[in-house]
Amino acid sequence: MTQDELKQAVAREAVRHVPPGEVLGVGTGSTVDFFIDALAEAGVRIPGAVASSERSAARLARHGIPVLDLNELESFPVYVDGADEIDGSLAMIKGGGGALTREKIVAAVARRFVCIADASKRVEVLGRFPLPVEVIPMARAYVARELAKLGGAPRLREGFVTDNGNVILDVHGLAITAPAALESRINDVVGVVANGIFARRGADLLLLAAPDGVRTISR
Ligand code: A5P
Repeated sequence: MTQDELKQAVAREAVRHVPPGEVLGVGTGSTVDFFIDALAEAGVRIPGAVASSERSAARLARHGIPVLDLNELESFPVYVDGADEIDGSLAMIKGGGGALTREKIVAAVARRFVCIADASKRVEVLGRFPLPVEVIPMARAYVARELAKLGGAPRLREGFVTDNGNVILDVHGLAITAPAALESRINDVVGVVANGIFARRGADLLLLAAPDGVRTISR
């Protein structure tokens, strides 16, 4: 099976975790693109979805699924999103697509985070995938120096601006053995908007696609 076929398989499986009649939180990325398509194809009736990016909002709208304003909602049951890496405690690195801040916000409002991934994303220790950090542009150089003090090698994502008008530093060379602590530590650096460690609010459920099927792993 190709990686895209694995992503499609897990996307179809995730549709079974969408509660009919409830607002849905939708993440960002190529796996989520397949999920949005599968959701539309399955015809699950939902009043609408909250999107974590302009990209996902546009795809939902193309399928005729209403895109809702998060500020109008107090809570909703399920958020479905992919990951760049996920460990055994269901902590993740996210933000390869640059949507980490909105993903973190939408995930915070959801009661349950369902992560959809192919088996290549499952790791023992987070950090081989460079950690994305969204930064206010004027703080870029300062934040990069602070991240270097933590042992990483930050690189500006060239030519990329987030949906929020900020830049991304991708931090290479971190071995993230204490994800929640590092997530908080990086959040404390002035100028950081959000970082791509999702540990303090990790996934509750992982749907992991391998050639022999989709496994369901709970926290
Ligand atoms: C987007 O900012 C990311 O957090 C994605 O969720 C993550 O990169 C997974 O993307 P793919 O499904 O494209 O691998």
